[in-house]
Amino acid sequence: MSKQFKRTLITSALPYANGPVHIGHLAGVYVPADIYARYLRLKGEEVLFIGGSDEHGIPITIKARNEGVAPQDIVDRYHTLIKKSFEEFGVTFDIYSRTTSEIHRETASGFFRTLYDKGEFTEQESEQYYDEEAEQFLADRYITGTCPHCGNEKAYGDQCEQCGTSLSPSELIDPKSTLSGSKPVMRKTKHWYLPLDKHEAWLRQWILEDHKEWKTNVYGQCKSWLDLGLQPRAVSRDLDWGIPVPVEGAEGKVLYVWFDAPIGYISNTKELLPGDWEKWWKDEETKLVHFIGKDNIVFHCIVFPAMLKAEGSFILPENVPANEFLNLENDKISTSRNWAVWLHEYLEEFPGKQDVLRYVLIANAPETKDNDFTWKDFQARNNNELVAVLGNFVNRALVLTQKYFDNKTPALGELTEYDRDTISEAEKVKTAVEYNLENYHFREAQKEAMNLARIGNKYLADSEPWKTAKTDMERTATILNIALQITANLAIVIEPFLPFSSAKIRAFINADRLGWNNLGSFNLLPAGHALGNSELLFEKIEDDVIEKQVQKLLDTKKANEAGERKAKPVKEAIQFDTFEKLDIRVGTVLECEKVPKTDKLLRFLLDDGLKKRTILSGIAAYYPDPQELTGKQVCFIANLEPRKMRGLLSEGMILSAENTDGNLVLVAPVKEVQSGSQVV
Ligand code: 2FM
Ligand code: ZN
Repeated sequence: MSKQFKRTLITSALPYANGPVHIGHLAGVYVPADIYARYLRLKGEEVLFIGGSDEHGIPITIKARNEGVAPQDIVDRYHTLIKKSFEEFGVTFDIYSRTTSEIHRETASGFFRTLYDKGEFTEQESEQYYDEEAEQFLADRYITGTCPHCGNEKAYGDQCEQCGTSLSPSELIDPKSTLSGSKPVMRKTKHWYLPLDKHEAWLRQWILEDHKEWKTNVYGQCKSWLDLGLQPRAVSRDLDWGIPVPVEGAEGKVLYVWFDAPIGYISNTKELLPGDWEKWWKDEETKLVHFIGKDNIVFHCIVFPAMLKAEGSFILPENVPANEFLNLENDKISTSRNWAVWLHEYLEEFPGKQDVLRYVLIANAPETKDNDFTWKDFQARNNNELVAVLGNFVNRALVLTQKYFDNKTPALGELTEYDRDTISEAEKVKTAVEYNLENYHFREAQKEAMNLARIGNKYLADSEPWKTAKTDMERTATILNIALQITANLAIVIEPFLPFSSAKIRAFINADRLGWNNLGSFNLLPAGHALGNSELLFEKIEDDVIEKQVQKLLDTKKANEAGERKAKPVKEAIQFDTFEKLDIRVGTVLECEKVPKTDKLLRFLLDDGLKKRTILSGIAAYYPDPQELTGKQVCFIANLEPRKMRGLLSEGMILSAENTDGNLVLVAPVKEVQSGSQVV
């Protein structure tokens, strides 16, 4: 039933160029896509792997504004950094370009124009917030106000970050423009819409009937969108950063970032293959696969296909193997909270260990549900799997050959039944890895590939060549020949997953790069073949290295908490006579004790200069030894209406300063004064 294709076009989501990339990006999109591309290339198939930076959109303009630079400066900076990180992690894009390129501007603009000319858009007027001082329409993110649900005064026009509710700007109470601080007004504006409702019928058939094989998380999300009923989506925005809408009368309007970004896949293909790009996008024999994260599903499964279909000459994706999210130490990865392992920092702190991270991220890939990256697990997988299984096997095979056979592949002698069983086990690895890769089960595929090293380890442990070497060199030769053939097979099978280690093994065994179809062969290294120099493939990662990383995250957490504890904004202004109504005085503590059966309350007995006065104060947590306060002076409000608490009458209120961390500290005069002195 599965369709035959001639070539595969792999795209990976274009990351926003407004920050560096982190482990979540690698695990969710780029390593799986790279494994898939490398695998197909190793099989000798015709493959193209497209990447690039997404350089439009509001977050970029906000960052630029905050830094006082142009949006182009921001995207130049991060495009360079992101591109370099991907290269260093061995992500083998055929092209990594950007959506601010000229060819992209032309392509996206032309695409819009085609749809426009074909009448594929509808035009609608709507009311939108406009900043009269800044003279521009406001994107949702540029409007703040009070959340109608939780009262957070800093909610954004699209979302309240305190209670997590999605909002539309018109729901905000007391909206303000973040550009000028002024109150925005509603103004009419016109936009172009892609009428997704008109595409619903064929999308339902195409996804829900014809692509039941899509991953359940992807299929499920599409189904719920479709079941809700599709609405027209605006594909233009009032903004000055983006690709101008190529229509007369559209001054000041640009293409919506989610309209232009996926067209970036096409522009980048064109940039790479100016004369030959069409076969990749317009020939039914091309298999188009989009690698993305789960937040991009609707755009790649519904919106972009609708755009391609509306254009009319493009193929549709055959699969969209989207992943869920990777968390870090039990917390959501967040760029704004700096809660991430940044790739450029990892490369500095773990030089040469790209494969370790690739391995751990795939072993833990969030393929069916969100998963967690922890440094402890990183260490354990390195030490117990890469070092103890893969590295150990390769090293033993090579060291024993050096020792007994002058670093040359020994000849194969007669095979025992156990040898044959081992060989047939090893041969099965190929099919298992292939099956899993072809079905986008990268975790399982990597496990199966590692299984070959386990088979090798077990074989050496059971056959004990170091013992046979004492009595039977012919048998020893056979064992090591088999171990070396397994090593050569490992170089092939791990290449998609661990490309740097695969290259190292090839150097150790002095072999050329071999294609996937050689996998399973036990004639890869002929007898007498001279091996190269070897070293350890992986090294143990010690506790102190891991502790340092954990500490770094703890420091981030602390810094975030400190950031959240900024001083509160000043309250609304009052008149002097309002202040004068307060009678604030200094009293001397005569007694202080915890109120029995309460957690928080302290009972103060004060000399207030006139009499003894009882005041209760909820600060017990901050003064565990209340007797110590006896003799100290404190400030209190003398004319607050007395109230009963816990059966005791509290005559006033003792003043404390609330630290930004929430701790309370009593307020006192800096020099002793007479009890009853007024604070004026
Ligand atoms: O979510 C994101 O990071 C988007 N920049 C992905 C865009 S994918 C494609 F459409 F370009
Ligand atoms: Zn809220």
